[in-house]
Amino acid sequence: MVKAAVRYVCQSCGEVYAKWQGQCTSCNEWNSISQEAEVTGGHKSAVGARSPKTNVVTLSTLADETENAPRFTTGVAELDRTLGGGLVRGSATLIGGDPGIGKSTLLLQAAAKLSLSGKRVVYISGEEAVGQVRLRGQRMGLSDAPLALGAATNLNDILATIDTGPAPDVVIIDSIQTMFADEIDAAPGTVSQVRASAQALIRFAKARSTALFLVGHVTKDGQIAGPRVLEHMVDTVLYFEGERGHQFRILRGVKNRFGPTDEIGVFEMTGGGLNEVANPSALFLSEREADVPGTCVFAGLEGTRPLLVEIQALVSPTPAANPRRTVVGWDSGRLAMVLAVLDARAGLGFGNHDVYLNIAGGLKIGEPAADLAVAVALLSSLTDTAIPRATIAFGEIALSGEVHGVPQPGLRLKEAAKLGFEASLIPGGKSSGAPCTLTQNQIGHVTGLLDALGLSL
Ligand code: TYD
Ligand code: MG
Repeated sequence: MVKAAVRYVCQSCGEVYAKWQGQCTSCNEWNSISQEAEVTGGHKSAVGARSPKTNVVTLSTLADETENAPRFTTGVAELDRTLGGGLVRGSATLIGGDPGIGKSTLLLQAAAKLSLSGKRVVYISGEEAVGQVRLRGQRMGLSDAPLALGAATNLNDILATIDTGPAPDVVIIDSIQTMFADEIDAAPGTVSQVRASAQALIRFAKARSTALFLVGHVTKDGQIAGPRVLEHMVDTVLYFEGERGHQFRILRGVKNRFGPTDEIGVFEMTGGGLNEVANPSALFLSEREADVPGTCVFAGLEGTRPLLVEIQALVSPTPAANPRRTVVGWDSGRLAMVLAVLDARAGLGFGNHDVYLNIAGGLKIGEPAADLAVAVALLSSLTDTAIPRATIAFGEIALSGEVHGVPQPGLRLKEAAKLGFEASLIPGGKSSGAPCTLTQNQIGHVTGLLDALGLSL
């Protein structure tokens, strides 16, 4: 007999309480706890569990053969790269991102490519009608792809659909927040619905060796809406990000049980869907203007991939007691640190100046290796002198003012040489090792920066 009991679930972190309270003691969120009915009673408690009888689990060893080729490529190379070399059978991948960033577009393109290569692909849309998806597909020239398209939000209907006939190679659920299971008495998008739906779909994927894609919405503060537990349940978590007003889109791996994280895929949104960008550095630098003070190219690294981006700084005098510090695309705490080090160790005061920092192209960078390039851009703007256009920089600035080495200097220099750069500002100490056509100007300490750049205050 199935009977409903009441429990209180934090919609932010998934913590369960017996009584209502104003603040979640687990994630400290206010007003996030709401009442949900809990399904209790025997084996029915798990959604999608078909049979009440118990089975003996077949145990095997690591050396045992796997039946199918464990990985297959999607045909979208940038997606394969982010996944760590293709899709793994029986795996679940969560793709998060802001509304309108292009998640559905990306998955529709991948689904079309997969189905054209002979894979059985089922695309379930819970947000758009079949007609809408079809129209979009036609506009992107994908009409010939033999993929199976459905519009549904009822989990049991979906499970029944994908369970008939041979198991699909790939199932795409767009989005997990629109799915609901009849057994759970809560609205779609709530913690219990999202968790139960994801659980049942992942169980199906593992049992039938199907690669599962779940689309997840992102809340205002950038987390996948609903329970954080969703990120723990899946094998791979990818974020699709980009700035509105820029056509670049970055697919970023943040968790991957089958490959390296931190890999990125770069796309460009066009009128005909997403185009893959095989050489992102060239794209990010394509908008560079003529020599202007306050810019410096940073030779960065995203995963295993070198990526050159322009860092732009504007330093302007202000009479205000609290000068502005505004950062787009980089960590504001890190900027404050670089400013403090330049002030304390090299006597370069920014105290009576507003400072604005921007990473061109709408890219977000998290590497401390950008410190030196940021410092160069700041000094260039402060002295109102452009630094030579064909120069790149990288290096991490310590609180002592020393410039420390960063991973893979050779790879960064090689990418810069490929794109026609001629000079580099790199950390002092060991040489990068790799032979390279760029002149290498070693900066051991921030005090040497003005001289190295030929700047004067
Ligand atoms: P969509 O994939 O629906 O985003 P999501 O699923 O992440 O919410 O993308 C919608 C946006 O992409 C929309 O603002 C229009 C734009 N777009 C293009 O510019 N070109 C295209 O070919 C397509 C299909 C969408
Ligand atoms: Mg969508």
